[in-house]
Amino acid sequence: MDLVLVGLSGSGKSAVGRRLASRHKAAFVDLDDLVERRTGRSVQTIFAEEGEAGFRSHEYEAVVSLGPANTDARLRRVIATGGGTVIDPRNRWLLYRGRFPVWLDGAPEILATRLARSANVRPLVAGHDPLARLQQLASERRRFYAPALQISGTAALDSIMRTLESRLAEGPSTAVTVLRADTAIGRIEIGYGIAATAVSSALRRGEARRAILLAEPRTWELAGAQIAAALEADGWPVERILLPRGENAKRLHVIEETCRALAQLHVDRKETLVAIGGGALTDAAGFAAATYLRGVPIIHVPTTLVGQVDAALGGKTAVDIPEGKNLVGAFHQPVAFIADVSFNATLPVRERRAALGEVVKMAALGDDRLLEVVEESGEAYARGDAEPIESGAVAEMVERCAWAKVEVVTADAREANVRMTLNLGHTIGHGVEAAAGYKEILHGEAVAYGLRGAFAISLALGLVTMERAERVKLLLDRLGLGIEPPEVTRESVIEHMATDKKHSLGRLNWILPTDTGVVIRSDVPDSAVEAGVTAALRGAPHAASATQTRSETGVP
Ligand SMILES: NC(=O)c1ccc[n+]([C@@H]2O[C@H](COP(=O)([O-])OP(=O)(O)OC[C@H]3O[C@@H](n4cnc5c(N)ncnc54)[C@H](O)[C@@H]3O)[C@@H](O)[C@H]2O)c1
Repeated sequence: MDLVLVGLSGSGKSAVGRRLASRHKAAFVDLDDLVERRTGRSVQTIFAEEGEAGFRSHEYEAVVSLGPANTDARLRRVIATGGGTVIDPRNRWLLYRGRFPVWLDGAPEILATRLARSANVRPLVAGHDPLARLQQLASERRRFYAPALQISGTAALDSIMRTLESRLAEGPSTAVTVLRADTAIGRIEIGYGIAATAVSSALRRGEARRAILLAEPRTWELAGAQIAAALEADGWPVERILLPRGENAKRLHVIEETCRALAQLHVDRKETLVAIGGGALTDAAGFAAATYLRGVPIIHVPTTLVGQVDAALGGKTAVDIPEGKNLVGAFHQPVAFIADVSFNATLPVRERRAALGEVVKMAALGDDRLLEVVEESGEAYARGDAEPIESGAVAEMVERCAWAKVEVVTADAREANVRMTLNLGHTIGHGVEAAAGYKEILHGEAVAYGLRGAFAISLALGLVTMERAERVKLLLDRLGLGIEPPEVTRESVIEHMATDKKHSLGRLNWILPTDTGVVIRSDVPDSAVEAGVTAALRGAPHAASATQTRSETGVP
């Protein structure tokens, strides 16, 4: 087994690591030393010459060089990381999966005193007020350390050693949690194989007396049944309520039936529901939770990529009525959002690909690393390969999208201002979906047309460079998104986009991409909007090698 020590500078990772390794005749690896050996330069010199970004890339290479986790039951290697190693999602995936991560936690006040006595220069703390800097780092990094077993690093060394050794027999888990955070919009957990344990602990935190699981037939078969079995094995009485599959769950009569089932189970106001499914299921179950007894807590366990990067997070719930999609709903934040990326393995290719439309949108909002991840792994994921799930690429996509959404929604839960930016690509996208009657086109596919249109408008207004626009366009082409011109007319798309037909289209709040993010504009000339819609509907037929066809859908 490999044990990995994480925590802030000064938390004692090296001292504890050396002692533990020597007591167990295991190898000791200090990641900073490894970087220094590999580069022939000191950490301080690397920071001075290449800045933090340069150091982080050497650090990532050093993590990769550790190779696969040791599977021996005995402790073979103790790895002490740098304080910021786990900022990079790739490092967390590599260091936490199959290894035993331990977080040496400590109050910044104590760590600051220790650092003042230490001869080691810590580049990220040096030159700042050490206490203020450590407090800031502690709050920024908590979510990255929190998946590891938390031990006080400021206790006496012997006591730390006793605590650690008493837990060694637990060994590494087959699951991996890469992020755990308590936020203003609920607990966020992201990982692989984590669903049942995370649900169990969320129920325990809510002092639940039973697990009331809401799913639909397919997600019950693929995820719900195994979660139920694990919960039962953990001692939870389990109740199950099945809603219809897909968009059919988002009907008012389904909400009535769901609430009646809850009433028949005598569910009271303090009881927590658990929704297991894609965006349609979490939207419907979330709406039932928002309204039953005027609101009961709910845990979302999204099983699709759309659910994990978007739908299950942020508290928007809704059902459809014949007059329109999502017209009846409520804001209701889940108490926990548990994204288990292992569920992606069974997703049909068309669902995967369409979801990437939303991921590209999140990247276009200004996350260049996310753009890179999709450029590197998007095609393989869209093809249905397991590799992007097993390599951590999907976990990184989910983390980047989910965390960006957490930040935006925390600032603006009810979409008064910044949350609006999440609608990039959605104005034209919704127009395309509506013009197509919400048939034959998935939401993420429509967003891809919308993104093409939004970039065309930005180009016309000089808001974005051709280079940036081409980069995103090429990515959409490679992913096979928004390629075939949809079977809708420009006029019908424009008609559906305008909330009021007499209203000038240019006066809508347009979210328009720039090279680094987006701007909101309500002064777009109608001619630019029309050109944007034309560009969106043109698609990219010459790039049609990976076009969407119904034959590969697997969609009901
Ligand atoms: N609330 C929000 O903020 C928000 C945001 C985006 C989308 N949405 C809503 O989400 C819905 C779309 O979500 P979706 O794309 O997840 O669709 P979905 O819930 O209909 O699921 C798509 C299909 O995948 C199946 N499925 C689910 N998990 C699976 C798995 N792990 N393996 C194999 N198949 C699986 C489902 O049975 C279904 O047939 C729409 O109704 C949309 O309005 C809501």
